Amino acid sequence: MPGVSLVGSGSACLSVPLTNDGLSQRVDTSDEWIATRTGIRQRHIAAPTDSLTSLATEAARNALEMAQVGVDEVDLILLATSTPDDLFGSACRVQAALGATRAVAFDLTAACSGFVFALVTAAQYIRTGVFKTVVVIGGDVLSRWTDWSDRTTCVLFGDGAGAVVLRAAERDRLLGFELCSDGSLNHSLNLAYQPESAPLVDGITVQKGSFAPITMNGREVYKFAVNRVPEVIEKALFRANLTTADIDWLVLHQANQRILDAVAARLGVPSERVVSNMARHGNTSAASIPIALDEAVRAGKVQPGDVIATAGFGAGLTWGAAIIEWG
Ligand code: ACO
Repeated sequence: MPGVSLVGSGSACLSVPLTNDGLSQRVDTSDEWIATRTGIRQRHIAAPTDSLTSLATEAARNALEMAQVGVDEVDLILLATSTPDDLFGSACRVQAALGATRAVAFDLTAACSGFVFALVTAAQYIRTGVFKTVVVIGGDVLSRWTDWSDRTTCVLFGDGAGAVVLRAAERDRLLGFELCSDGSLNHSLNLAYQPESAPLVDGITVQKGSFAPITMNGREVYKFAVNRVPEVIEKALFRANLTTADIDWLVLHQANQRILDAVAARLGVPSERVVSNMARHGNTSAASIPIALDEAVRAGKVQPGDVIATAGFGAGLTWGAAIIEWG
């Protein structure tokens, strides 16, 4: 059975930051409240000229460049997103923008767990021998769906995209994984369709609606994350035949610095081994893990052979962990 290796990473660059002080012009909040409760100092907001497609394409291009893989070699593009430019999907637009004409492309939605779910899905295609080269992208533009008058949610989110390139290899570097869902907790974090009935013809009514902005029970999501994430990482480690002592880097979904700290403390991972870019990016949903990973790789922190424990968690509710060896 072919193995999977991660050979490149990339992210898109949004240059203009929205600081906490900037946000406090809009809602009753402060840099002190946001930084203390979440660790966030700023986030990036996509400009009207940006799109999910443009961010995802830039991230993928940078990852392919690092991997030194040509677009004509890509077999599959998997785009994890909850905020496509088109509800039919945006992966095909990314395929066209990259010029990856051989690749099949589709979207996958699992909110902030999307990148981990897509990584594991991509690996199955490689392990079965169907595909040799896959680009996995996590991208979200949650600013489109944020209620900018709700200070309990709008301070958390930012926009972005990150990507990795996976290739078939002799030795499998996806060492273990575990994925979970619990739809009974769906109500705690939603970006829900709100239907409005409109009569069509006699006896038939259609729904004409729109998506409501994000709603969240922050405390419930917080409790869920600090309980379930250490557990799912331990299960993935067990499958990898490793222990927490083997983790070189903990790369979690960047939701809240307090969640990162609590998970690391439960696992006994020292803070210098926890990758965090919360302060600069906020919560970029499916993009947060690949952006954090890419920054750590480019900064020379993550080296080939390092063991990375990564975990996503979020709406669904969904959560999952993957243990990977970089390079
Ligand atoms: N500025 C100032 N005050 C605020 C703000 C704000 N932005 N937001 C809330 N407050 C106030 C509240 O009104 C409340 O005031 P009160 O005591 O007078 O009623 C007080 O601060 C405390 O509010 P809490 O909601 O209890 O604050 P908490 O400490 O729980 O922090 C937070 C809230 C940061 C949202 C936290 O619960 C959290 O991070 N939860 C996890 C959220 C998360 O990670 N979600 C994303 C999951 S990923 C995905 O799928 C999208």
